[in-house]
Amino acid sequence: MIENCDALFKQISHGVYVVGVSDGIHQNAFTAAWVMQVSFNPPLLAFSINPEHYSYKLLQAGGICTVNVLGQDQFRVAEHFGCSNIKDKMMGFQWQEDKTGAPILTESLAYFECQVSHYTDAGDHKIAVCKVIGAAKLNQGQPLLYNQTGDMDGSSIIYSDNLL
Ligand SMILES: Cc1cc2nc3c(=O)[nH]c(=O)nc-3n(C[C@H](O)[C@H](O)[C@H](O)COP(=O)(O)O)c2cc1C
Repeated sequence: MIENCDALFKQISHGVYVVGVSDGIHQNAFTAAWVMQVSFNPPLLAFSINPEHYSYKLLQAGGICTVNVLGQDQFRVAEHFGCSNIKDKMMGFQWQEDKTGAPILTESLAYFECQVSHYTDAGDHKIAVCKVIGAAKLNQGQPLLYNQTGDMDGSSIIYSDNLL
């Protein structure tokens, strides 16, 4: 029996991140919680991305991204980038660029700049394994945690239909 799956998954600790992507022409960003370090040497991060996201198209085309760490006071930022089909989604935020041209969220606590190494399948998502080629702390603060976002990602409905 799997009971209250949404609440149980939220006991697995995750931070909340804005993943910035670019195909060299267009930029976009989306909120992600399923992000982790997967290697020391070389330094690799991996995140799980729904291939239906607009960001996935840009990620595949450009092969670069940033992982921007959100702080405790950035609940609204997580909510904004957790929505699709927003016209001018990147507007109203300050962005900067470093080596690759992928968008770095200036108000984030820290960022990692990455090149995609490879993808692997994971059910209804793809896992992007990424080499970290740059990283910096931008602001002071404590990271926002996934279990503090409540049902912002709508996962409670998904699990209620889809357990077995
Ligand atoms: C708190 C939170 C965590 C999320 N985590 C992920 C994630 O790890 N992977 C993912 O593919 N989508 C995740 N999402 C959903 C995307 O952020 C959302 O579908 C977004 O609209 C996709 O944007 P895009 O279509 O502009 O690329 C999360 C959403 C929220 C609110």
